[in-house]
Amino acid sequence: MERVFVTRVIPQIGIDILKRELGGCDVNTSDKPLPKDELKAQVKGRTGIVCLLTDMIDGEILDAAGPQLKVVSNVAVGYNNIDVKAATARNVTVTNTPGVLTDATADLTWALLMASARRLGESERVLRAHAWHGWGILQFLGQEVGGRTLGIIGAGRIGAAVARRASGFDMRVLYTSRSPKPEMDELNATRVDLDTLLKESDFVSLHVPLTPETKHIIGASELQKMKSTAHIINTARGPVLDEAALAAALKAGTIAGAGLDVYEAEPTIHPALFECENAILLPHIGSATHSTRNKMAEMAATNCAAVLHGKAALNPVS
Ligand code: NAP
Ligand code: GLV
Repeated sequence: MERVFVTRVIPQIGIDILKRELGGCDVNTSDKPLPKDELKAQVKGRTGIVCLLTDMIDGEILDAAGPQLKVVSNVAVGYNNIDVKAATARNVTVTNTPGVLTDATADLTWALLMASARRLGESERVLRAHAWHGWGILQFLGQEVGGRTLGIIGAGRIGAAVARRASGFDMRVLYTSRSPKPEMDELNATRVDLDTLLKESDFVSLHVPLTPETKHIIGASELQKMKSTAHIINTARGPVLDEAALAAALKAGTIAGAGLDVYEAEPTIHPALFECENAILLPHIGSATHSTRNKMAEMAATNCAAVLHGKAALNPVS
């Protein structure tokens, strides 16, 4: 029997696959990330680790597992929590869950975009505080979405799915990318440089992976280039957006609003963001639908089993 450790609760379908394919697995059933020392103790002697984006899998963890470790299977598409270089150096395959969460995350991006444009957070907070005293013609005026310009930074799977949804709103779509994206061109989206995107967009949406190159891709000077009526949406990774600079821009009226699903130091939120009425703050729920989370668990378990059966991983990142 292979020795697989699942670092935290995952949907049962993933556990069932590991049991069926590999004869079983051990699971941290607490649904909380394990402290590093505990994780090191649990991974010792394992051939496979199925982990979550809340686990930092670095060289130290890989060494604690030992030289028999063959696969680290992330139940997420983003894999900035794993030191892929360190894994590759130790002949460990790293896998992720691309595609199955694209639509759910694109939908949530649009939910944030609409919520920010129409001030849903602010107006609901007023109502729940029993401070709404009836309809008013000047209350909670927001921005139109239809016919406006959407700027997508990172035109991969999710960025393209967000762009596809924009056609229902007759939007002009701009995007930045390091490489040509034929799918975006088919959607009549226009590839521009970052400055042009920031200056011309009414809604800017971030979909890049977190890498050294994309860390703080949006900071104070980029926010300064945006329209004062514009909104920024981040469902990618927290550190791609400088939160302190964002909070300052939201308070100063440099931009009109923000919709965030991800944060620089999750689960800690920059305190200044709580003071921004014009920020919609969600707890990293981009892929959180029943069917998507099941598919992610299924995909991660299948990847783990494939590698441990000596087959090629279905979704290797390395
Ligand atoms: P993907 O298909 O790999 O798309 C990422 C795109 O970013 C690629 O097309 C890449 O294109 C582009 N890119 C990379 N570096 C760039 C740079 N410096 N400037 C401009 N573009 C750059 O990944 P995906 O499936 O769409 O997922 C994107 C990210 O969303 C994930 O990495 C993850 O962090 C995040 N995510 C969050 C949630 C959530 O719950 N909130 C859910 C799913 C995913 P080129 O390499 O050609 O430039
Ligand atoms: C979620 O954030 C993911 O990367 O899958």
